[in-house]
Amino acid sequence: AKIVDIINKAETTHSLTKEEIVDLLRCDEYDQQLFLAADRVRSQYVGDQVHLRGLIEFSNICQQNCFYCGLRKENTKVKRYKLTPDTIIDLADKAKSYNYKTVVLQSGESQSYTVADMQYIIRSIKALGLAITLSLGEKSRDEYQFYKEAGADRYLLRIETTNSRIYKELHPGMSFENRLRCLQDLKDLGYELGTGCLVGLPNQTMECLADDILFFKSLDADMIGLGPFIPNADTPLAQERGGTFNTSIKVMAITRLLLPDANIPATTAMETLDKNGRIIALQSGANVVMPNVTEGEYRKMYMLYPGKICVNDTPKHCVSCITGKIQGIGRHISTEFGFRQSKKLTN
Ligand code: SAM
Ligand code: SF4
Ligand code: FES
Repeated sequence: AKIVDIINKAETTHSLTKEEIVDLLRCDEYDQQLFLAADRVRSQYVGDQVHLRGLIEFSNICQQNCFYCGLRKENTKVKRYKLTPDTIIDLADKAKSYNYKTVVLQSGESQSYTVADMQYIIRSIKALGLAITLSLGEKSRDEYQFYKEAGADRYLLRIETTNSRIYKELHPGMSFENRLRCLQDLKDLGYELGTGCLVGLPNQTMECLADDILFFKSLDADMIGLGPFIPNADTPLAQERGGTFNTSIKVMAITRLLLPDANIPATTAMETLDKNGRIIALQSGANVVMPNVTEGEYRKMYMLYPGKICVNDTPKHCVSCITGKIQGIGRHISTEFGFRQSKKLTN
């Protein structure tokens, strides 16, 4: 089929075959049409509101060794930190004062907070009237359940890649099956579920990326976070080329066409590769931004990859910076919690 026909099919039926997705990813000639179609679907299904989620990077301690990530356990160049529960709650309170309706609590995967600590943090932040997204990595079903009962609303756990061979190569000591188990448990427990992938991993092909997109659809993910893999010099993938901005935006745009009402962030990694990256993403299917609300030196210490944006900026500066950019393209900052629309209707 012709590329324009594939784009039209995706825009009207929100479904594509793997072959059609691969054709779209391989051909760059009609990228502008693809981005415009994704922008229309975004506007039609989730509107012109942009949801801001305040990101709190509360600890960089990690027991895993993901090959791509600067926080991996074997990276001894990172100075490790963990914020106290009350400091985390205080950051959430500040996020509230900037009018953020959601905070995302993200960290390396570790046991450095007890379940009781996390429950205290979650309950206290819920008492502020905020929605909570967790991004803590792989946990037992019980632990996920305790956090849900304490009030957590959403969970982000990227599958990273659906190619089980690549997954295995890049995640020593981890298993693809357990990743899937986690995603299923989170869904069963009633979390709004976020997943996503890295674009441009070693040996990853356009077929792999097409499978990733179809995976998001089959899981019916509520949120999908995508970004380029950016090589970090202090990791085993230091010499790799990494993903490109354009392919990342294309994967995101196709994801929007196939999951029309999902929440899709314009990610920090996109802006790292293009200084207007988040705005381009917002005009190619994205409807969420996650500004950093971590303060001071900790921003620099949560270094997944080089060139991370905003490391020298304050949370206050980031609010006005991103608000201005969003309003500059005629979009509005949402004053709602920004749950997935279809969820609200069905629950
Ligand atoms: N530890 C939790 C986990 O792995 O789900 C949450 C924090 S982890 C740092 C968040 C995301 O960072 C991962 O899902 C991964 O996709 C992304 N990431 C890690 N290293 C990266 C790199 N070099 N380039 C781009 N993204 C990276
Ligand atoms: Fe740890 Fe997450 Fe980084 Fe993997 S991606 S090393 S689990 S922080
Ligand atoms: Fe942080 Fe622009 S969002 S400086």
